This record gives sequence, C-alpha cells and structure tokens, in this order.
Amino acid sequence: MKKSELKIMQIHASEMDNFSYLIYCQETLRGAAIDPSMRPELLLKEIDNRGIKLDLLLNTHGHADHIAGNAVILEHTGAKLAAHPVDITNPDIVLAEGTRLELGKGIIDVMHTPGHTPGSVIFKFDHQIVTGDTLFVSRCGRADLPGSDVVALYDSLQRLKKLPEDTVVYPGHDYGPTATSTIGWELKNNDYFKCPDLQSFTKLRLEG
Ligand SMILES: [Fe+2]
Repeated sequence: MKKSELKIMQIHASEMDNFSYLIYCQETLRGAAIDPSMRPELLLKEIDNRGIKLDLLLNTHGHADHIAGNAVILEHTGAKLAAHPVDITNPDIVLAEGTRLELGKGIIDVMHTPGHTPGSVIFKFDHQIVTGDTLFVSRCGRADLPGSDVVALYDSLQRLKKLPEDTVVYPGHDYGPTATSTIGWELKNNDYFKCPDLQSFTKLRLEG
C-alpha cells in the first residue's frame, strides 16, 4: 500500500483540554492548521521547526475555545481560512459536504456533520478523521447549546459509524481514556455510538 503523504500532529492546546492539529505533506511541506484554540503559538512553533509553509487554517466549528487563536495564525502565516459559513462568517474558502482541499500531494475531504453546531465539519484524509466536537474518544459533543440539534448529531454519528473500523479518530478535546482511537474502538466502547435508535440517543445525550 502506498505510504500516506500527509502526516498529522496532535497538540494539547488549552486548559479546556482542546486539541489543535497540524497536517502537512511530507514531500512538499505544505501544511494546514486546525483549531488553534488558546495556544496558537504552539502551532506556530511546530510550523517553524519543521519548515512548513502553511496554506490553510481549518476550523471544525465556530466555538470560541477552538477559534480563539485564528487571528494569530492568519497574521503570522498568510494561510487562508477555510470553514463552514454557517459557523464562521465569510471564510476565505467556504467548506461544504464533499469539498476537497489539496494540500501538497495529498487531499483532505470535508464531511459536513451538523449537530453540535450547524456548521460542524470533519476533515478526512486516508483512514484518519479530525472530528472537532462531533465525536470524542468514548463520548460525543453536546447537543444542548445554542444552535445544537440532537437529531442532526445522531444522523452525523450514524455516518461516522459506517467508516472503516481502522479509521483513526482525532478528537477536538482530550476527554477520553486515550488521546486518539479508532472507529472500531468507538463502536465497542462509546455509549453514544452504541445507541440503537434516535430515542435512546436523545435520552442519553440530553438527560444522561
Ligand atoms: Fe464546541
């Protein structure tokens, strides 16, 4: 099997256990930062250390704990901001279901996964997904916030359950027993994934 050109780095980036990510093409060193959170300097340090040219700043959704560092990253790198316009007004690149982003010799695919927020997206490349606050290790995002929609979140999670079991999950917060997992692990261990129907999911998510 061909080795992936895209590499991902996980960065613990706030007192709220946020994760930022840096994805880059190992051959061309073109990069994309995801959710700078409150510690954008940590991303900038990795970008500098590795000699990466940052093409894109991606946001999984519009909550402040994920996007607080956007301005610092944009100012220091000249990257283009890519996000779903329902969550982030006037991004440089509008993301939607099926958007494909070129990064060096790799491709990042966008899934629109509303529920936690209406503009939540997941970034997918090879067998890896960056899930923001839609899916955490052993949990899922809240559905009781302004703009949340528990039915949409259930539907989004059903789509993720159909991904190959070896798909690696990179969540938006460090809330689980491990920093990453796989779809196969979540199918066995995540109570929200295991809900057999919308009714049981709604009860667990909103009342559990
Ligand atoms: Fe959030």
